Amino acid sequence: LGTIVVAVDGTSGSGKSSTCRGVAARLGIRYLDTGAMYRAVTWWLLEHGVDVHDPAAVASYAAAPRLRSATDPLAPTICVDDRDVSVEIRSEAVNAAVSPVSAVPAVRERLVALQREIIGDGGIVVEGRDIASVVWPDAEVKVYLTADPSARAARRAAENGAADLSATEASLLSRDRIDSGRAVAPLTMVEGAVQVDSTDLTLDEVIDLVAGLVTERA
Ligand code: C5P
Repeated sequence: LGTIVVAVDGTSGSGKSSTCRGVAARLGIRYLDTGAMYRAVTWWLLEHGVDVHDPAAVASYAAAPRLRSATDPLAPTICVDDRDVSVEIRSEAVNAAVSPVSAVPAVRERLVALQREIIGDGGIVVEGRDIASVVWPDAEVKVYLTADPSARAARRAAENGAADLSATEASLLSRDRIDSGRAVAPLTMVEGAVQVDSTDLTLDEVIDLVAGLVTERA
């Protein structure tokens, strides 16, 4: 397990974060939330008044924010320029801006390089959209996690206390559309990935299933 790489890709709100943290904690390995890295860059751009819908402007600042990801599954945090922004990156403003920012090639190039550095010798569960397709195609275990949009919206709303389910669902679907349709590293299920639909499973059941795949292949 000390060298294994577990790649978990999937749609927004499919339960990737809770699943990956649970699997990593159970197996005693590290955890990397690559979505938090795209969110952190987006947060920095918004803070600095950069127009997130101007790809050239976004590209010119792609290398500016200094990022640090903590990979302990029990306390995953992300710092930008030494400030912990783990809470700030979950705001509605970041939700709305992160997909266009993530579609900019210069942003992806920089973050993919950082992610590969963090993965290093392995022993890690990595979640995102392009982990199996781009970041680490040699991952020993590849999972593609999905759930029905209404289930995803209900879970997300329960997490952040949002009252408007249909607005939450629309926001998730809008991100999925941009993430799946972009030219660079679109969300996709690679050959060899195991598709897990979590609609009718509890979190514990999904963790059991994924942890089982990992121990089978370790
Ligand atoms: O996983 P999460 O929903 O926090 O990701 C936020 C956004 O970051 C996604 O909607 C996507 O636009 C982007 N992302 C990405 N590639 C990844 C992880 C996240 O483009 N590997």
